[in-house]
Amino acid sequence: KQFKVAVVGATGAVGEVMLSILAERDFPASEVIALASERSAGITVAFGNGDLVVQDLATFDPTGVDIALFSAGGATSKEYAPKFAAAGAVVIDNSSTFRYDDDVPLVVSEVNPEAVRNRPRGIIANPNCSTMQLMVALKPIHDAAGIERINVATYQSVSGAGRSGLEELGVQTGQLLNFQEIEPKKFSAQIAFNLIPHIDDFLDNGYTREEMKLVWETRKILGDDAIQVNPTAVRVPVFYGHSEAVNVETRDKLTADRARELLEGAPGVVVVDERKAGGYPTPVTHASGNDAVYVGRIREDLSHPRGLNLWVVSDNIRKGAALNAVQIAELVAAEG
Ligand code: A2P
Repeated sequence: KQFKVAVVGATGAVGEVMLSILAERDFPASEVIALASERSAGITVAFGNGDLVVQDLATFDPTGVDIALFSAGGATSKEYAPKFAAAGAVVIDNSSTFRYDDDVPLVVSEVNPEAVRNRPRGIIANPNCSTMQLMVALKPIHDAAGIERINVATYQSVSGAGRSGLEELGVQTGQLLNFQEIEPKKFSAQIAFNLIPHIDDFLDNGYTREEMKLVWETRKILGDDAIQVNPTAVRVPVFYGHSEAVNVETRDKLTADRARELLEGAPGVVVVDERKAGGYPTPVTHASGNDAVYVGRIREDLSHPRGLNLWVVSDNIRKGAALNAVQIAELVAAEG
């Protein structure tokens, strides 16, 4: 069977990569439709060896669409995803709008693929980029030793803030190297040659929403509300690829060697863990433009008998967003 596929937000940082991954993986599409705002209607975006003309989402009729990949912000998903679902499409949504609804599955393709089948509203949510790579890396550890607590600090690239985030880092870098004044717009402080411990809104408990996504989404994806998560989320001046310094406390003792072995056999994971210069993943040297979740610096916690430390790096636009959305679409397509 061939599927009629719509990509909503096709001109964005994630949408562009959704299109390239659909082509790259030869998704069984009879037709691919590129949608964005009225501003972009009529321009072309690349798809495989050709182009697609972008259509205006507001005037598009979703009748006949089988699968719709949404990455056009929360407000757009809130308004249009239910309309596409009502017209019969399976919606795979990259925004946080539906992630915490009980009747919307939240799926990482390597971790809980079976959850895609239970979608009473016709909507499947794609997790936040930081949670995504963390789950891929921690699933084998959780299965083997039972994770009780996760301490995580993220180092998140500017592409997570979309095209305007990429532009702001580029422009500020140029301005500062030319001794010009900069003016933060997308980010709340200078991002070039700096870092910012603030992503998404502040909540009443003193955490940011980006930090709480790690708490809420980890529990939902692993299906375990007892897991404790202590998050700090930081924006860093990297274009593509999020990194995470992760400490886990497990129920059963896991040695670093055993953890390395488990991770080497885990789907979606590449272990890069030589204890020498360059023997670890970085966003630029490993993650950017690639599909895997890279794990290195695997070592036992000196301060805790059942603690383990990991360094986890992945391309936030690929596995963290577009790739996982397409992998969910593949799971749906495989249902027939
Ligand atoms: P457009 O380029 O027409 O504004 P990014 O995350 O990189 O900023 O991209 C956001 C994506 O969401 C873009 O493709 C953008 O289209 C799209 N988008 C934003 N607002 C709307 C809207 N109201 N209707 C349709 N698409 C939208």
